[in-house]
Amino acid sequence: MRLQKFLAHSGVASRRSAEELISAGRVRVNGATRSLGSKVEPGDRVEVDGKRIALPAQARYVVLNKPAKVMTTMRDPEGRRTVAQIVPSEGRRVVPVGRLDYETSGVLLLTDDGDLAYRLTHPRFGVAKTYRALVHGRLDAEAVAHLLAGIRLEDGGAAPAKLRVVRASGRVSEVDITLHEGRNRQVRRMFEATAHPVISLVRIRFGPIALGPLAVGNWRVATEREVSALRVAAAAVPDGERRREGCE
Ligand code: URA
Repeated sequence: MRLQKFLAHSGVASRRSAEELISAGRVRVNGATRSLGSKVEPGDRVEVDGKRIALPAQARYVVLNKPAKVMTTMRDPEGRRTVAQIVPSEGRRVVPVGRLDYETSGVLLLTDDGDLAYRLTHPRFGVAKTYRALVHGRLDAEAVAHLLAGIRLEDGGAAPAKLRVVRASGRVSEVDITLHEGRNRQVRRMFEATAHPVISLVRIRFGPIALGPLAVGNWRVATEREVSALRVAAAAVPDGERRREGCE
């Protein structure tokens, strides 16, 4: 990276003022003054007026297609496989954002950005999650209406934000269900309550992040566009709440 860009990224100065600092001989790299346009390599010691300058640490955002029979934890006292064994730490330990059941597969975001992780899991921000559920039996109009009207679970009511029957044969049905909440085993409990227990469950979308062609057990770094969209999702306060906040 060019020295003036490094200074601008580190927040010391605008690109133009960074150029002036360099031209004035106020910037040293590994003890020596450098001219405009010279490059900085990782590990170089950059100083302005003798004060060490560093780039802000970049957070890591990883998208994993979690397999079934893997724990969404960093360690498991019972010795089961965990997501930490799939995603290498690479010096920056990422932790899961929310959780998927042991038997559930699909999109799981892992990050070391604690602030974003907190907001993405906070019910206040209601980030949408979409699951593809394979369930027992033919999901008929009555069961769909029941689900849409809201299911009474032991920890409160639960209604999907969206429901789409992908296929419904005699013996099994496939359904895409979107929730803004993330209560324990919520999707499984909702289908159990309609007498259509889940056979398999895959999270196909977490907020703006779609599972896409990522194979089970593989992971990739989230794109810049996905990270920006996650920030937007985590910043969006529901309308009603904004109105209330406005009145206070
Ligand atoms: N709902 C479930 O039942 N299980 C999950 O893993 C996620 C949502």
